[in-house]
Amino acid sequence: MSRMERPTSIALLGATGKTGREVLRGLLKSTIAELNIYARSSEKLLKMFPTLRSDSRVNLHIGSIHDEELIKRCLSDAQVIICTTGSNGMSPSTIIQDSASAISAALQSLKRSANSWQPPRVLLLSSSTKNERLAAARPRFVHWMITTAFRMGYVDLDAAQAILSQDPSLLSLLSVQPNVLVEEPGSGFEFSSDSVKLGCSYEDLGASFVQLALNTEYKELSRIGVSSKEGDRGIVYAPIILFRISRGFFVNYFPLGVHLNRLFERAMPQFA
Ligand SMILES: NC(=O)c1ccc[n+]([C@@H]2O[C@H](COP(=O)([O-])OP(=O)(O)OC[C@H]3O[C@@H](n4cnc5c(N)ncnc54)[C@H](OP(=O)(O)O)[C@@H]3O)[C@@H](O)[C@H]2O)c1
Repeated sequence: MSRMERPTSIALLGATGKTGREVLRGLLKSTIAELNIYARSSEKLLKMFPTLRSDSRVNLHIGSIHDEELIKRCLSDAQVIICTTGSNGMSPSTIIQDSASAISAALQSLKRSANSWQPPRVLLLSSSTKNERLAAARPRFVHWMITTAFRMGYVDLDAAQAILSQDPSLLSLLSVQPNVLVEEPGSGFEFSSDSVKLGCSYEDLGASFVQLALNTEYKELSRIGVSSKEGDRGIVYAPIILFRISRGFFVNYFPLGVHLNRLFERAMPQFA
């Protein structure tokens, strides 16, 4: 595709996650002609989206992120690739860099066998912490607490961004960078390269991905901050943030913290 045209085919990795499912909801309402979805469990995905079974636009690619042929099939023909895989940032995980490696390897292989190559746009779920301009508004101590409590997630994200930034002739990367993700009804999203509000709801983040994926006006951006329009209610978000930061410190620095957190997540999956 010429990057001036609207995409006809989109690939989505991470559709079962809190962000991914909102992206998928939005894409299913759009006029996109083809949608390739990667997930590791078809049961989980189809339970969330039973209509996928009968939607002729949708192709499911189910299996391991390390299955190169599977990811290649998922990405072939996609002009836009949306990657919303991730973790809670507390427990050790390499899923974001594994996704980045899988995307990069699949695109290299597709590029080798293509007559001509138009680098697809890759929209990566990133974080405002990884954007020095967006993070500059935070008090230094708060920034230290966030980067320390969720250091495992940021290590993974850094590695993924490095992999996807390696070769601009292979893909064109846009890092989508919200501040704190919250489960609350959407209030509309807003973009900014200079600042982000404290909170962004999953619903608004999902809608923002759809907007970025379908509209060519954002094609020159390499990173963008996203917020909910009503995302500046510090009093509402303070308990959520304090709970998450305390848990992050516990997991990282308390003996057996990782194991106890796994037990907690198993008992209370809503906090996973
Ligand atoms: N929490 C915050 O406040 C915040 C703020 C800014 C940015 N972020 C970014 O947002 C990310 C989390 O997003 P989220 O809350 O939407 O995540 P989530 O709900 O935990 O979803 C993660 C997705 O990744 C998939 N996944 C995880 N491990 C996998 C594996 N080994 N193989 C294949 N798929 C795997 C999950 O699949 P399954 O459903 O099969 O598990 C799911 O689809 C973080 O990593 C961080 O980079 C978070």
